[in-house]
Amino acid sequence: MKLIVPLIGLGCLSAGLWGEQASDVTVIISGGARGHLSPCGCTKPMSGGLMRLATLIRQYKKSGNVVWIDAGDITAEPGRQSQLKAETYSETLGDLQVDAVAYTSSDQRQGMGLLTAGTSLSRAKWISDTPDPINMTVRESTTQGLSISTANTQGQSVGLERPSDILLFDGRESEYTSGRIEHKLIVTNTDGIPTVAGNRVSPGSNLRGVVIAKFHNGEFVSARVELLPAEVKEDPRAKSIYDNYLHRVTEEKLIERVLRESKEVYIGSKNCMNCHGKIAEQYSHTKHATAYQTLVKEKHGADPDCLPCHVVGLNSTNGFVYQRTPSLAQVGCESCHGPGQDHARWPKKFKLPKVTNEKCITCHTPSNSPNFNFQSYWKKIKH
Ligand code: HEC
Ligand code: HEC
Ligand code: HEC
Ligand code: HEC
Repeated sequence: MKLIVPLIGLGCLSAGLWGEQASDVTVIISGGARGHLSPCGCTKPMSGGLMRLATLIRQYKKSGNVVWIDAGDITAEPGRQSQLKAETYSETLGDLQVDAVAYTSSDQRQGMGLLTAGTSLSRAKWISDTPDPINMTVRESTTQGLSISTANTQGQSVGLERPSDILLFDGRESEYTSGRIEHKLIVTNTDGIPTVAGNRVSPGSNLRGVVIAKFHNGEFVSARVELLPAEVKEDPRAKSIYDNYLHRVTEEKLIERVLRESKEVYIGSKNCMNCHGKIAEQYSHTKHATAYQTLVKEKHGADPDCLPCHVVGLNSTNGFVYQRTPSLAQVGCESCHGPGQDHARWPKKFKLPKVTNEKCITCHTPSNSPNFNFQSYWKKIKH
């Protein structure tokens, strides 16, 4: 899908500042990964992600005068895995020769390590750490004749003394107030696919696509959304950087550091099968019975982002432990029926609660399983 929206009602102050710029520039705006470097692939076909973004960038870079600006917002939460993601993201940006990167306050909260690594790895010609919220400074720079500035929710009203070609606003669309100066193109944060509305654009979230804007004779003449559908091939070099990320996640055994808040005891499906032979036979032919192998095949077998829904009891101190509890790998009987130790010992005395749709949708979420419907799905695994 491509949305083409002409930019109207833009200030006409511009030409004076960068008027010499005669040729067309294609400006690509990406960002907003928020921890989703690659789609999980729970439902095929997969779209979006850093490896498809890389393919798109390389294609555009071959075809003329391109300025690529990344608006940051790389990770969603602090921690070692986020740091590895930030490094992976930045390294890919560096490999693709990004022109400018603006880290957001959210990126800054993930720690200086992220910014230091990001700065050196992305090798961007221009980097802005987020505008200083206390002193309300706003930073400006030029990249290939385009003036780029950043502002955040605190600093926006102070603003620059003159309009810039692109303002990267570190905040939600609803938080932006233009103040005295009307910048030519304003990039804000939104959820979902990228958006273009007049001179307000956003790369959206989870790397679903980018915004492509045309800059001609000192003015933006158009802006549109370009999505990254499944047909876009994954860039091999970006893929090898990403594979290295997965390798590090595995090597560093991040899966052993997950927070376990429950103490429920899980005994594993094999123990249930002794008494429920017929159901066991039926279960063994469902996809639940191989859900962990699915992750291993995709190199995500030790990825804390994936295991919660593909094994039994990752949130419990008595649940799945990496490489030590093969009986708790896969979506097991207890993933749906709950911990069954007491029931297995005294089945007449301890009954297990009824399983309803509520249980299914803890894993079959709208983003992981968009086609989920209890009736039709239960039919496939009924016992
Ligand atoms: C919130 C729960 C959840 C998380 C987290 C999760 N998955 Fe899944 N995954 C599912 C569900 C549910 C399905 C089955 C979806 C369907 O068929 O409707 C699935 C299916 C899959 C499949 C099979 C797709 C197919 O068509 O054969 C793959 C591959 C997969 N997931 C990979 C991953 C990876 C990789 C991650 C981590 C990056 C991950 N999953 C994280 C719930 C999850
Ligand atoms: C602990 C997480 C979890 C729970 C709870 C769960 N599922 Fe799943 N389900 C998965 C995962 C993961 C897959 C994909 C496994 C794979 O392909 O490797 C899946 C796959 C399926 C599939 C196969 C989809 C296909 O296209 O063949 C069906 C059907 C299904 N689930 C139905 C259900 C129903 C019905 C419930 C509730 C009664 C339920 N699931 C509860 C995680 C879960
Ligand atoms: C020692 C044999 C035995 C084991 C082991 C066992 N069950 Fe059962 N299960 C039974 C019997 C017998 C019933 C029927 C109880 C009744 O009708 O009062 C039953 C009933 C059930 C029911 C229906 C609801 C209920 O509680 O009556 C579910 C669900 C169930 N079992 C799941 C499991 C799961 C999951 C496991 C493994 C964690 C498991 N069972 C292990 C013997 C066993
Ligand atoms: C994807 C979720 C899911 C998984 C995995 C699952 N069940 Fe069930 N099971 C259900 C649902 C839903 C029902 C029907 C509602 C109920 O009785 O709670 C059910 C019903 C049952 C019943 C009662 C059947 C009856 O006739 O009353 C038993 C016994 C049972 N399951 C045992 C098992 C055993 C043993 C396993 C593992 C080999 C298993 N289940 C795996 C969801 C699941």
